[in-house]
This record gives sequence, C-alpha cells and structure tokens, in this order.
Amino acid sequence: MTQRIDLPPYPRGWFAISTSAELAPGDVQHHKYFGQELVLFRTEDGTAALFDAYCPHLGAHLGHGGKVDGNDLVCPFHGWKFGLDGACTSMPYGKRIPPAAKARRWHLRERYGVIIAWHCPLRSEPSWEMPEFDDSNWTPCVSMRWEILGHPQEISENQADFGHFIFVHGTHFPRATAEPMIDGPILRVDIESAPDAVAPEYRIDGPELVGSANGHGPGLTFATIVPKGSDLTAVQRLYATPIDEERLALLGVVTVGKLGTEDATQQYLDVLSKQVFAQWEADVVFWENKVYRAAPVLNDAEQSVATFRRWYQQFYVEE
Ligand code: FES
Ligand SMILES: [Fe+2]
Repeated sequence: MTQRIDLPPYPRGWFAISTSAELAPGDVQHHKYFGQELVLFRTEDGTAALFDAYCPHLGAHLGHGGKVDGNDLVCPFHGWKFGLDGACTSMPYGKRIPPAAKARRWHLRERYGVIIAWHCPLRSEPSWEMPEFDDSNWTPCVSMRWEILGHPQEISENQADFGHFIFVHGTHFPRATAEPMIDGPILRVDIESAPDAVAPEYRIDGPELVGSANGHGPGLTFATIVPKGSDLTAVQRLYATPIDEERLALLGVVTVGKLGTEDATQQYLDVLSKQVFAQWEADVVFWENKVYRAAPVLNDAEQSVATFRRWYQQFYVEE
C-alpha cells in the first residue's frame, strides 16, 4: 500500500458495496472499489448483481447510462443485454452472440440490509459465507458513510485496541472477560468495562458497558455493546471497503432490539446511533494519519492486539 501503511492493499473476503435500501428494483449504480470500476444493479424481480463495469463489447461503462430491462442489464452504447450470470442474452443486430460476450460477475450476497461482495486478489471462489443474522426483533438499519484515507485492517484493529477507548471515546477501559474466540474468519472478544484497570487519575464517570467486539472477515467490525445490567440490545457494524490503495469507504450501521413501544425504540435508536457515529468519527483522525507498526510495542494489558493481528493474517493472499 502506501509507505504509511505497509500492508497489501486488498485483503480477501466479503466487503460492503451498498445498503440494500439504496438499491431498488431497476436501479443501476456505478462504484469504484479495489481499484476497479464496477456496476451494481437490481433486476425487476429483486436480485442484486455486481459486474466489472466495462462492457465486454467496446468498453462502455455499464454504470453510466446502463438500464435494467426485466432481469437483464442493457449496455447504453449498443444495447447488448447481459443476464444475471454476466452472459450476453441478446443484441439488437447480428445473428450470433459471440461466446466471449460476457461481463465478469462478482459473488454477491445481501446480509442484514447490506449488499456485500466477495473480493479476492486471485479471483478465487468464496471460501466462507458471512453469518446470517435473525433481524426479526430488530429495527431497520440507520447508516452513515465516510470516505477516508486508510486500510481495512486498521479499522478492524480498533476493536482489539483497548487502550484508546479512554482517550478517544471517553469510555471506560475494557477488559476481555474470556479468551478471544477464533472461528475461521470470525474473531470474537467478549469485553466489559474495567474502571479499576487504569490508574486512578484516568478513571471516568459513566455507565459501565458489556458486550462483544467481533471481526467478521477483513471488512466488518461487529459489536454488541450495551450498559451493564440493562436489557437493551444493540448492534453496531462498521464496514470498511478499499476504494483504491489509499482510500477507504466506511459504512456504519446501527440497529437496536425493539423495546416495548415504538417511541421508546425510536428514541433509543436515535440516541445510540448518534453516539456511535460520533465515536467512529473520533477514530478517523487516527486512521488517516497514523503509520502501521508491523512490530508494535505492546504492554501486558493489550495482548488482544497481537491476537487480532495473527487472526487477520489469514485474509492476505499472494498475488
Ligand atoms: S460497448 Fe456495450 S454494447 Fe457496445
Ligand atoms: Fe475507536
């Protein structure tokens, strides 16, 4: 990547492309991720698809003027149509469809309100799936976006970096309540506030929190943190998708478990999402300006960073 962050720019795994709500049937969007131009669309029957943007014919950008017709994407330049698998289904002229008339299709899923794509520098097939999440008792997502300079590993590492919480977020220092659990592409660290774990002059007033901080693959940090002893439930998800070798698209999503009344639920969601978005914003100045230390100096209270780094290594593949 850059001299500031000497890591391979594009790890392998699932990354957010858009929210589901932003892509209605018939919509066509253009995106740039992983240094590549892409076209995202939703067919009239509701299936989302992501292709390399440039038409296999004469190279028009399918995301600038392309249209959905039924379940096909129509190129704006000469009207060739492409089906969900990327293969050309019809042309306005000529008798034979050349077999190479095929757009490159990306593996795409929709998981709890977010459209995610599989990215591998070697173009391998997906080797794992993102976990399903039963959202029946949860509010719809509230989301926010940022474009920053940074790398997805640095965003994900934030959850394992306990020391910065007091300084950057004004919360108690957290402590792991159990050994980190690693299940392939998932890393789960159960944590709780540990006010007594810091020197007295650094202790703060404020609610003690409990929950878990998880990495779901290289591009999603997934946390469930609530006040200790409450029956509130909340999920905060921060997706980080590389745009190119320096820039990163962040998508922050907050949902809460429904409370007794709609008003109470809405109020909780409003307050919490504002807090969480502000917390992520407070991290941005660090992500944009820090260097990546390949061999960091860590003390005994932050070994979670070392565990995190070992876990994240699996997402790098040689090009
Ligand atoms: S460039 Fe797409 S149909 Fe010609
Ligand atoms: Fe943070």
